[in-house]
Amino acid sequence: MSMEELPEFCLERWQSLRETKARILLSESGVEPLTIEALNGIGASLSLDKVVLSYGWTRGSPSLRHAIADFLGGVSPENVLVTNGSSEANFLAVMTIVSPGDSVIIDMPNYMQVPGLLAWKRAEVFEAWRIREGQWQLPVGEIVDAVRRVKPRALFITSPNNPTGAVDWEALETIVAELRNTHTILVVDEVYRGLEIHGDLARSALRLGIEHGVPVVVTGGLSKVFGLPGLRIGWLASNINGIVEKAWSLKDYTTISPPRLSEVIATEALRDPLRSRLIARAKGIVRRNIDILRELLSGREDLLEPYWPAAGAFLLARLPWAKDTMRLAERLYEERGILIVPGECFDMPGYIRVGLGRENPSAARKEFEELLEGLEKLRGSS
Ligand SMILES: Cc1ncc(COP(=O)(O)O)c(C=O)c1O
Repeated sequence: MSMEELPEFCLERWQSLRETKARILLSESGVEPLTIEALNGIGASLSLDKVVLSYGWTRGSPSLRHAIADFLGGVSPENVLVTNGSSEANFLAVMTIVSPGDSVIIDMPNYMQVPGLLAWKRAEVFEAWRIREGQWQLPVGEIVDAVRRVKPRALFITSPNNPTGAVDWEALETIVAELRNTHTILVVDEVYRGLEIHGDLARSALRLGIEHGVPVVVTGGLSKVFGLPGLRIGWLASNINGIVEKAWSLKDYTTISPPRLSEVIATEALRDPLRSRLIARAKGIVRRNIDILRELLSGREDLLEPYWPAAGAFLLARLPWAKDTMRLAERLYEERGILIVPGECFDMPGYIRVGLGRENPSAARKEFEELLEGLEKLRGSS
């Protein structure tokens, strides 16, 4: 397979080229990252001087795998592989499960890492678009029909979903029940699990798989809800015999082992009381920023039509007056230093994604005000 066939990863390229220079960073999808000092301030007791900077356990330290298994809800640590972010977990999942020519179904829109990898793998991809009119719910009937018709190797779902902010509690139960007598593997990117803004922590799809006897792979990590993207800690977990081992063998070719220092911090972050505090922090930040933005947007839906998220630290919005949102986002950045994500990166021109993760409320308000002012000006000149 040549590199030419690997599509550019729009969202990550867009960010990589701009995020360190932006004046107002509204392109992030997680809550504002924490310092080690701040972690210690909310109950961690991290003294890192004595940590031996060895390779450690290439599959992830037993204590971290245990903490992840507990977060997933009573899964065996043997079923967990620690990865460098959930992006490595998604990479390993696609490479381990999908062969050229395999049929797969994927929910759209999504973060778009998996579609790029599926194209590279030359899989035959069936897109199941979420239903805009119904709060971006999964099209369960369409997915069930496609599973029966296509008998896919795998069904990929991002839930809670980026960029729509949809949660899929009931839909996932129905889908898992439907997969019971098939050979289809359900692969769920759960990196936003824990950031359900109003409900309880959703059950991991892996628990559903275990209960229904359905093969499931889940991926996740500490970058979004926990506000710790710089740790580069994620995971892949599965109830399928041998899949974790296969992904682990492939990891020998990618990153070998997780960053040792990060593992120590991650283990504390995933254990209570820190885990609950970090989740509460994230929900508090997002709820408050939604309130601020709601107030600023009131009566201005002609400028920006919001889809208030049920989960995640971002808002998907439609701009009824703009078709070329890529150009618009470029101008916002070039002329005002404001970085958002254009809908084109999700195959959704006419939309933008705005980060809701800023911790300081007055900074958040000021940034939203500048964004709206920038959009008004661009509308006037377009
Ligand atoms: C759905 C989803 N999966 C995976 C990732 C990658 O995150 P990380 O590798 O930092 O865990 C992102 C980042 O935005 C995401 O939105």
